[in-house]
This record gives sequence, structure tokens and C-alpha cells, in this order.
Amino acid sequence: MKFVLAPLAGFTDAPFRRLCFEGGADLSYTEMVSAAGLAHGSSPTRHLMETMPGEGPVACQLFGAKETDLAFAAREVPSDRFVELNLNAGCPMTKVTREGAGAKLAEDPEKVYRLLKAMVENTPLPVTLKTRLGPHPRSTTVFELLDAAEKAGAKGFILHARYTSQMHGGPVHLDTLAEVVGRAKIPVTGNGSVVDAKSAAAMAATGVDAIMVGRAALAKPGIFALLKGAEGAGGDNPVETHLRYLLDFRRQLAERYPNDHIPSEDGFASVKMHVHLFRYFAGRPGAAALRARLNKVRTLAEIRECIRSAFC
Ligand SMILES: Cc1cc2nc3c(=O)[nH]c(=O)nc-3n(C[C@H](O)[C@H](O)[C@H](O)COP(=O)(O)O)c2cc1C
Repeated sequence: MKFVLAPLAGFTDAPFRRLCFEGGADLSYTEMVSAAGLAHGSSPTRHLMETMPGEGPVACQLFGAKETDLAFAAREVPSDRFVELNLNAGCPMTKVTREGAGAKLAEDPEKVYRLLKAMVENTPLPVTLKTRLGPHPRSTTVFELLDAAEKAGAKGFILHARYTSQMHGGPVHLDTLAEVVGRAKIPVTGNGSVVDAKSAAAMAATGVDAIMVGRAALAKPGIFALLKGAEGAGGDNPVETHLRYLLDFRRQLAERYPNDHIPSEDGFASVKMHVHLFRYFAGRPGAAALRARLNKVRTLAEIRECIRSAFC
């Protein structure tokens, strides 16, 4: 079974993807990249498409609602850097759905067909769709979405087996996932609350070709090797390595984009490491005090001090 890292906005940047690759992930996804942002020439959007050495195969995920934006963005995604180009049709956040993108698309299979076709026609990369079962349990659109993806020439279908109305909680509908697998002519990746060997086995029983892991990989990038049955994998706390990769990545960005504003080491580390440190510190002795301290860190030295007091 293949295990892949889910796209997680704010988390799955190049340093974290590299940790997950070292932790056994077979493939990872970028954070969602705005097709409109690329079309408007936004530098921060472009930086989301950076990869770093040692991070293994990476898929680039786009979100958008216009064929012209997605066609343009598909041409902009460097085909020598990525192994796949994915369309987000599952994100329930208002800032995405109010533009007609993300989970809004799960209501409109015909539009998904047009957007995927625009991507397929503008990239040499295999194009895939990541979506949900439908907007809510009274409206299951996933079979129409699968048809649309196959007709548009998509080479894979990633299903978060929940409805949009569930956001990221509630039951994962493995029965419907199994039905989708039964009908699909293209490989299906299953997603939704896989956290351990038991939940992975339940998802594997649906017949999926691969399993995508999201939140359970946060603070535990070694989970992929664990799920593959590697004894003793995922035990070491990778926080120091994470910080090192983050600084390497910042240096790479500064070299590659000399004319763009790249924050200082202090700024970059405190912003990018912040969300991860909350996860690394969860459940540790004195976690509440650590969280309070974390909220005040502004420099690399303070971050290092925080890590030292948590893990030494
Ligand atoms: C903080 C956060 C950010 C996310 N960002 C994205 C994203 O950029 N693109 C996407 O398709 N899904 C995104 N998702 C959804 C995940 O990829 C995944 O489908 C969901 O978390 C269910 O998997 P899990 O139960 O293993 O976490 C995000 C979820 C979370 C919690």
C-alpha cells in the first residue's frame, strides 16, 4: 500500500514534506496554490511551488474556479519539479468557496470537467482530482465527479470520504468509498482520519490504491513508516531537524528570488515554525505554559530556547 501526505495549507511546505518523505511517505502534496494568484503574478503564491532537495516525489495542488486561470496556472507549474498536478474540489473554507472554488466545485461536476480539461490540455503532468462525497448527505455527487474526472482525462481520484457539511469531523464513509473504488477506471486514493494501523487497515479494505494521511502526520512525520509496519519508526522527535530544513529552505528561497521580499531568519522561523511547534508541544508536560511562551517568540534564539526547554 502506498501512503501519501495530504495537502495541508499552512503546514505542508517543502521542509515538512521532506521530513515526511524521510518518515516513509511515498508522495506528498503542496499546500493549495491559488490559480488566480499565479495568473496575477503573486510572488508568495509562486513560492508555494518551491521544492527542496531530498523531499521525494511531490504533487502540486491548485485551487481555482476559472478555466482561464487554471489553464494559465497549469502551464506555470514546473513539470520537472512535480510528478502530478491536482485540483482541489474539497476545501470547505469560506475564503475559497466564496470564489466558487474548493468544495463549491463538488456541487458542480460539469464545471469540474471543464476545469480539469483546461488543466489536462495545458500540462504534460498527470492531472488528478481531490474531492469529497458531495455537499451534504442528501446530495451525494461523488459518482458524477468521478465520471467528470475520467472524461476529462484525469489519471487519479482522491476522495476525502466525508461531505462538505462535515468539514473535517464526523464519520468517514468507507462504504461509499468502496463503491467509488468499484466503479472507478482510474486509481483511487482514500482519505479521512487514518491515524493508526487499525484505521489504515479499514481504509485499505475498501480496495483503494493508496491512502492519504493529513492531520495524523503533523508532529509525527514518521507515521508513514509506522503505517507500513516498520518497527520503531516515527519515534524520534524531529523538531530540531524540522527547524534546520526550514532555515535551509529560507536560504534557497532568498537565493532563487533575489528581488522578492523573503523574511529574515527570525521572521521566517517564527511564522513558519509556530503552527508546527504547537503540534509538537501538544501533550508534553507543561504544554499550556509552552503554548503561552510560544505566542511571544519572535526570534530564532527564542524558538531554540523554547524547543530546548520542551525536549531536554
Ligand atoms: C489545517 C488543514 C489544512 C488543509 N489544507 C488543505 C489544502 O490545502 N488542500 C486540500 O485539498 N485539503 C486540505 N485540507 C484537507 C486535508 O487534505 C484532508 O483531506 C483532511 O484533513 C482529512 O484527512 P485527515 O483526516 O487525515 O486529516 C486541510 C485540512 C486541514 C486540517
